[in-house]
Amino acid sequence: MLDKVKELIVEVSHFNASTKEELETFRIKYLGSKGLLKDLFAEFKNVDADLRKDFGQALNTLKKTAEEKVLEIATSLENSTEEKSIYGDLTRPAEPIELGSRHPISIVKNQIIEVFNRIGFTVSEGPEIEDDWHNFTALNLPEYHPARDMQDTFFIEQAGGKFNSDLLLRTHTSSVQVRYMEKNQPPIRTISPGRVFRNEDISARAHCIFHQVEGLYIDTNVSFADLKQTLLYFTKEMFGKSKIRLRPSYFPFTEPSAEVDIYWGLETEIDYRITKGTGWLEIMGCGMVDPNVLKNCNIDPTKYSGYAFGMGIERIAMLLYQIPDIRMFYENDKRFLEQFKSII
Ligand code: DAH
Repeated sequence: MLDKVKELIVEVSHFNASTKEELETFRIKYLGSKGLLKDLFAEFKNVDADLRKDFGQALNTLKKTAEEKVLEIATSLENSTEEKSIYGDLTRPAEPIELGSRHPISIVKNQIIEVFNRIGFTVSEGPEIEDDWHNFTALNLPEYHPARDMQDTFFIEQAGGKFNSDLLLRTHTSSVQVRYMEKNQPPIRTISPGRVFRNEDISARAHCIFHQVEGLYIDTNVSFADLKQTLLYFTKEMFGKSKIRLRPSYFPFTEPSAEVDIYWGLETEIDYRITKGTGWLEIMGCGMVDPNVLKNCNIDPTKYSGYAFGMGIERIAMLLYQIPDIRMFYENDKRFLEQFKSII
């Protein structure tokens, strides 16, 4: 009998239940009013007197073990259902992590940087809040120069509601040219990507905030042919198009100046629409840096010459990805942004 009780103690201490029903069956089996313990206690009087002490102790141990077991399992079942209601099924596979994507402006900016890096251009940056000198005057745009009207400017409001005409949001990244030349002597090969601001009405084609990349190359004997060759290399790498033309134009900081068109082609209906039936697309402005600008930046124009160019990143991105409206870049619509997931 004693051995049987000892076996039962081992059995009870190893018991486990994963549901409340299983636990209840166990409880009834051992501790119920018709349970095993009741029967065993009833046996007590039949046990030999010299064994009674051990038997009694064993019985008490069995009872205690069973009672503790029921309590322990009940508490743990209670906790795990609580956990379940908080965390759900803890063994389920994890939720897929949503991957973000780079913004198309960053993608295109990085591509442009990479193309120019390969031919030795470094990246330089300047402040978005500029002074009149770096944004206008040093670039051959003195006060009252009519070409200042080409770029509607946001001036910075001072305390008291007055506008400070010397402090403004840069209207182009050409201001970084000036800052770079002030600090570095030729040879200079740098591109300056950045955000620019213009007080313009927002439409499908124009925004008051957009991005530009400025390019600057200054050395001895730099010619217009060097400029054209560099731009041809760029359009080949960026768009896979190998025909460009330079149309005479005007910018105060370059002389001569030109607009760069690439031959996009007329294969599809979209090509007709975006090139207005000509096959040609304007992508940037460029020219030979005006000697006055070099002088303003302490570079000797009798020794050095150079070229500069400037393009809008949004415009390039719109062409590359056939984005019909510039406002889409700033709306943060996930359906738009998610389309750039596969591009790094
Ligand atoms: N800064 C001009 C603009 O914002 C773009 C530009 C044109 C930059 C010609 C240049 C350049 O460096 O040579 O419209």
